[in-house]
This record gives sequence, C-alpha cells and structure tokens, in this order.
Amino acid sequence: MDVIEIIRAKRDGAELTPEQIDWVIDAYTRGEVAEEQMSALAMAVFLRGMNRAEVSRWTEAMLASGERLDFSDLERPTTDKHSTGGVGDKITLPLTPTVAACGAAVPQLSGRGLGHTGGTLDKLESIPGWRASLSTDEMRAVLSTTGGVICAAGAGLAPADRKLYALRDVTGTVESIPMISASIMSKKLAEGTGSLVLDVKVGSGAFMKDVDSARELARTMVDIGNDHGVRTVALLTDMATPLGRQVGNALEVAEAVEVLSGGGPADVVELTVALAREMLAAAGLTPGRDGVKDPAEALRDGSALASWKEIVRAQGGDPDAPLPEAAETRVVLAPASGTLTRLDAYQVGLAAWRLGAGRARKEDAVSFGAGVTLHAKPGEEVSAGEPLFTLHADEPERFDRAAEALEGAFDIEADAAHEPRPLVIDRVA
Ligand code: URA
Repeated sequence: MDVIEIIRAKRDGAELTPEQIDWVIDAYTRGEVAEEQMSALAMAVFLRGMNRAEVSRWTEAMLASGERLDFSDLERPTTDKHSTGGVGDKITLPLTPTVAACGAAVPQLSGRGLGHTGGTLDKLESIPGWRASLSTDEMRAVLSTTGGVICAAGAGLAPADRKLYALRDVTGTVESIPMISASIMSKKLAEGTGSLVLDVKVGSGAFMKDVDSARELARTMVDIGNDHGVRTVALLTDMATPLGRQVGNALEVAEAVEVLSGGGPADVVELTVALAREMLAAAGLTPGRDGVKDPAEALRDGSALASWKEIVRAQGGDPDAPLPEAAETRVVLAPASGTLTRLDAYQVGLAAWRLGAGRARKEDAVSFGAGVTLHAKPGEEVSAGEPLFTLHADEPERFDRAAEALEGAFDIEADAAHEPRPLVIDRVA
C-alpha cells in the first residue's frame, strides 16, 4: 500500500477501500505512516467526508488496534451511556448507580475534562480515596459485585484513536462528524458494553451548536453501534443552558448525591430518568417485569443511593466523607428584577474553568472545590440585589476574570413570557 495514493484518493473525493483503511490506521499506529502524512489524510477526510461503509471500517480499524473487553459472561446485561459533553453534565454520577439498582450492569469508561466542559473522572476524584485507574480484573470485580463501575480507559483500548485524536487536536481536524463518530464509537465498542445510549448535546455549551449537526452525529454513531452488534440509540438534549445548579467538580458530586437521595434539580432528575429508561430498554429490561425497577422509583426509594455508596466504596472512596470546598467565595448579584430568560452554558463553563475547575493542558491539576453555583435557572424570577451566582475558587485573583465571563451570559426581562425549552429534543434509533 502507498500512503500517498490513499491521501490523493481521499483528497480527490474517492471512497477509500476497506483494505486502504485497515492498512493506513494500522501503519499509522505502528509509526510507519508519518504524522505529516496522517495530518494530510485527516484534512482530506475533514473536507471530503466518509460514507457509512468507510466510517464503519475506520471505527473497526481503530478498535482492532487494541484490546476489546468482554463482559458477556456477567449475569446481568450490560449497558452504557456516552455524553458528547456539556456544562454541569454530571449525569453519569446519578445514572450509573440508578441503572445498576434497576438490574443492568454499567461498565463506564470516562475521561478527564479539557476546556470548558468538566470530566466525570475529575468530579469523582473529589471524593476522598476514590480511584479512577483500575486493572481489567478490578473493573470486572467491581462491575460484577456492584452492577456499576466508572473508571479511566486503559492505554490498551483503541490506541489508534488516542494517537489520531492528539493529531487532530493540533491540525484543525477535530470537528469532523465521521472522525468524531469513529473516535467515540471505537472506544465505546472496545469497553465491551452490550448496548449503548448516546446523549448528544446541542447548544452553546456543546460540541454541536445546531440541531442538524447533532442529529447527523447521532445518526452516524447509532449506525456504527448497530452495525457492530451493540444496540445503540441516541437522545439529542439541550445544552444551551447548564444542567442543574452546580458547575464544578465537588459541587456537582454534591448535586448528584441530592438527586440520588430523591431531591435535586428537576432537569438533572428528568435527564437521569430518561437516559436510564433508554438504557434499560436497550439492555432488554422492562420495568415492572422480573423485578426490574423503574429508575424514578429507584431514586425515590433509596436503592439508587445505596448502589452509589457501594460503587464508590468498591473503588476506594468514602461516600460519607466531606467533599472539598474552595477556600474563597464571591457572590454576583442580579442587576435587575424580572424573569431570567437566558443563561448561556458556554459562558458559565468558561467561568468555572477560569475559577480552576477545568484544565488548559492535559497535565494540569484541577481544583476540586472550584466552580459556579447558579441561584436561578431560565424561567425563574430574580430580584435586583439578590444573589445570582456564587463563585468558588481557591485563589481570589481568579474571581475578576470569571465574573467577566458571566457579564453577557444572561438576560433578565421584566414581564417576559418565558417559553421553557424542552430538555430532550429528539431521539435517534
Ligand atoms: N470526543 C472523542 O472522544 N473524540 C472526538 O473526536 C471528539 C470528542
């Protein structure tokens, strides 16, 4: 095979053959195809796209570059959720134990945050003692005893994607629906789940800013999953405004525990229940039959909370220990009275990041206590001079830049008729 031929073929808009795709992904992973050649191919794919057969083969080639876990011998059916990432998106935390409490097993491989959206592992690492790195044997042991495990993906899963994602990141080729789909799905197929629910976020705080691109991403990923024997469905959900009232690592863990205790913000509860029902259905479980509980009931009756504590303990964490708090807080007051008609997810995410909740480079540490508390959500009334946000940071010099990010982040209107936006926008199956 000749890499230059492959680059030229895609540059000129041709369909790549399965053999070309297998070879180029393998040769790149082994170092035989140079970084500059793969950059050229990534740009050609970015500009020309790939059809369903090419995307499916590209995913398979990345999957074949590493190990594939297999949990098909567990007593419970396995199911997982992947979110494309949003601000205040702590849903994995209440969702995993809720689904476990209802009878499925959830093998969840998560990541750390980069940029304005937080990572699930960063949130969980704010729990004293909790460990993200588990061996495959430990992962299997936690999953079979508790029904849920949330841990870091080992280096052996889809190594081709790790290398290619890092290259795309520095060559302006991340925002390609075929390559995003193959990247996400190669990792999800490698983790060995039997079924998968995708939460594809839409709006200012999300990767996909408009519904049409989100729908195309969802369609592409759902097709890849189903083509590979993993029952896959997607929900398109709103990320124009943050989820819940807390944005930041330990703040979001505390909010997740509120939800697991039967309370918490309505949007976090709604999305947790909607995704949990989809996961159970994808795993072939029906609430009300064979002892399968409905997720809303599991949140109400304490079983989801008990499952959370069990999963956290099994990974070395103390679910009853106090969570870290930031050293300093600053309150931002509402400048006017009226209805909060807009609260921008991206700008709130940026403020939390500037407060220390996120990282700029992979090797940076995060502040567990940093973040933003939202005292009002769109549709709620606010009064001039009352708290609108509380900012949390370890270093007070961070407050001014975070407050700046929030300056144009909201609208308050007197006598405004506020149309609530639906949280679940569409379903792709
Ligand atoms: N997340 C991934 O895992 N891969 C992408 O390409 C984009 C987002």
